Amino acid sequence: MRIAIFGANGQTGRLATRYALDAGHTTVAVTRRPDDFPFADPALTVAGADVHDADAVADIVARADAVLSTLGVPFTREPINTYSRGTANIVAAMQSSGVPRLVVVSSTGAFHYPGRTGAPFALRLVEPVITRTIGKAVYDDIRRMETIVHDSGLDWTVVRPSGLFDLPRVTEYVSGEVDPVGAFTSRSDLADYLLSLAVQHGNHDTVTISTTADTPTMWQTIRREAFKSA
Ligand SMILES: NC(=O)c1ccc[n+]([C@@H]2O[C@H](COP(=O)([O-])OP(=O)(O)OC[C@H]3O[C@@H](n4cnc5c(N)ncnc54)[C@H](OP(=O)(O)O)[C@@H]3O)[C@@H](O)[C@H]2O)c1
Repeated sequence: MRIAIFGANGQTGRLATRYALDAGHTTVAVTRRPDDFPFADPALTVAGADVHDADAVADIVARADAVLSTLGVPFTREPINTYSRGTANIVAAMQSSGVPRLVVVSSTGAFHYPGRTGAPFALRLVEPVITRTIGKAVYDDIRRMETIVHDSGLDWTVVRPSGLFDLPRVTEYVSGEVDPVGAFTSRSDLADYLLSLAVQHGNHDTVTISTTADTPTMWQTIRREAFKSA
């Protein structure tokens, strides 16, 4: 199978690209920084493109059997349209070239999960503040993206992870059409789940994925985020 991965040079995207190659798929890694892509493989093409460039997106998508998007933008107060416009370009390209399968990464943070269990009390306090302030532009655009995917007529799955962190292995994660468990998703679990979904057909669903093993504490997460923005 030939899989095109948008956001492939990001943290989840690199893992998804590696896993796709390891599973024997011909893979196209899409990035604005092709020279920085960290590995090579005979079955890998690294394609330089900005997802806002509809023609470049169309060229890449036309030769794929399935498309994964791990596109992401940091929190900002500026208006954002990378998720929505970028995904609209991907969807239009898939529709016009007959590529059926789309799997996109969204976020539980953009939605309300009253039935969620196991999230730390601190997160339950902080999350509504973040979603209405520094996270608002990102989450507004993620919701627009979901609507575009939902209305696309493609064979689609929207994957909503929770707070991302890194683990060196894939765990026995909780996934599917269920409320998220806890507050975290490891990028390796997310990449593994994305790949398993990319090869399925006939889906029109919105799913979550939660990691329950070896999750960080809220304090570790806050410290990491503070360090990143320093
Ligand atoms: N961080 C969290 O806790 C969290 C929680 C829930 C969901 N998520 C979502 O999970 C996904 C993956 O997160 P991550 O941390 O692995 O991502 P990441 O490392 O930030 O990577 C995102 C990638 O998107 C690409 N991108 C951004 N704008 C682009 C554009 N205009 N054209 C082409 N590519 C563009 C960038 O690639 P280039 O610069 O190489 O072009 C970047 O490497 C994102 O959708 C994020 O919103 C994150």
